[in-house]
Amino acid sequence: MEKRRSLSIGCPDFREPMPTTAPDLFSNDYLSITTNPHARQAFLEKVSQLPFVFGAAGSRLLTGNNNSHTDFETRMSDFFGGPGCRASTAVLFNSGYDANLSFWSTIPQKSDAVVFDELVHNSIRDGMVASPLKAAGALYPFKHNSVASFRERVQNVLETHPNIASGEGMLFVAVETLYSMEGDYAPLLQIFDAVDELIPKSSAHIMVDEAHTSSLFGPEGRGLLYALGLQARVHSVLHTHSKGWGVGGATILTSAAIRKYLMLHARPFIYTTAPPHAHVCSLHIAFDYLTGPEGSELRDRLRSLSRYFEGVLQTALRHVPPDLLSLSERKIPEDYPSEIFSPIFPLTSRSPKLLEEFLRPLGYAVTAIPYPTVPRGKEGIRVVMHAGNTEEELDEFVTRLLQWVTMMQALEEHRKENGEMIAWQSQERAKL
Ligand SMILES: Cc1ncc(COP(=O)(O)O)c(C=O)c1O
Repeated sequence: MEKRRSLSIGCPDFREPMPTTAPDLFSNDYLSITTNPHARQAFLEKVSQLPFVFGAAGSRLLTGNNNSHTDFETRMSDFFGGPGCRASTAVLFNSGYDANLSFWSTIPQKSDAVVFDELVHNSIRDGMVASPLKAAGALYPFKHNSVASFRERVQNVLETHPNIASGEGMLFVAVETLYSMEGDYAPLLQIFDAVDELIPKSSAHIMVDEAHTSSLFGPEGRGLLYALGLQARVHSVLHTHSKGWGVGGATILTSAAIRKYLMLHARPFIYTTAPPHAHVCSLHIAFDYLTGPEGSELRDRLRSLSRYFEGVLQTALRHVPPDLLSLSERKIPEDYPSEIFSPIFPLTSRSPKLLEEFLRPLGYAVTAIPYPTVPRGKEGIRVVMHAGNTEEELDEFVTRLLQWVTMMQALEEHRKENGEMIAWQSQERAKL
């Protein structure tokens, strides 16, 4: 607590809910499914006809393995397991955190190694740390989104782990598609090409976390890998249902052998009650919705709003000192198709807490992201687009940002004048 206070991170007691009177410009509900009246109605109708709606009342390994779970997994594997896909069987988890923790703590073995982007999500890190690879010193980060650093790491690992180079160990690669704090995309094609070039085929295992792109891209929302035509080049994929899907839970698509191994060995899967029936019902509804015509409309809307906001914001911030407020660069690799966009806008500022304090009373559910959560110079707030936002809401928000900028500049001017006045007074006093 003291450490948090000394770093000005804040210590909320979570008794006050986030304000909700202003439009949602901050949550992960990219397609605004959580407030969609049609999806809600479809869920209420379906759930009222189910024989069971409450808890599964047991782990999947005991009494909790019901039709609702197995049917959903079959639906996921049919949907994602296209021609040539190795990631073609599905395991459902209570959350994306549990899914990553399960995979990374259970699947890599003592003789293996992992090369991972230095900014991967903490659920991946926690899993890796709980794996035998931590003690073996076989966890190797590479510089965020740097293909050169990735290649260098892989080459080093192959030199120091001859068993992997000779096909007797596995080199796991951990990357995300869209990084949610930075709003930038992994150079997936170049990383996969480097894997093919450098690692013996039988020793490579690529695991991609599609948390922030699942349902946003690709045919019927299959995700970024499908949008890039890379789905057959990966070994395992994580789709969280908590973000674009607007529900919660997550599915890992992987080989039949790994699916079975996870179910029999992953502690976050074994030692927990299976998702409640109403939860799985809402997953089916989200699935119907996202893969249907309305899903396409929502994706188009999100794209057009993201482009609109980028334009309005860039114009508005043109004359604002960058250290006061600026939009971070969000890199999209050049080989990505032009329809790929980022719905995440990291705004950096030297005073993120003051910006939060200005926006919260206006009803915005904003949270400042201070150092050390992000490196120095990257402190700020994250603004996120949603299919349910409107252009007017975005204009209003940008007006508020500019009001804050004007207020901060007036305050600084006032402080400067005050300082000059005090200096002048002390000079005059010295003359007496
Ligand atoms: C990249 C990534 N993976 C996994 C997770 C965990 O997902 P969940 O919120 O469903 O537990 C998150 C959540 O923020 C995430 O950003």
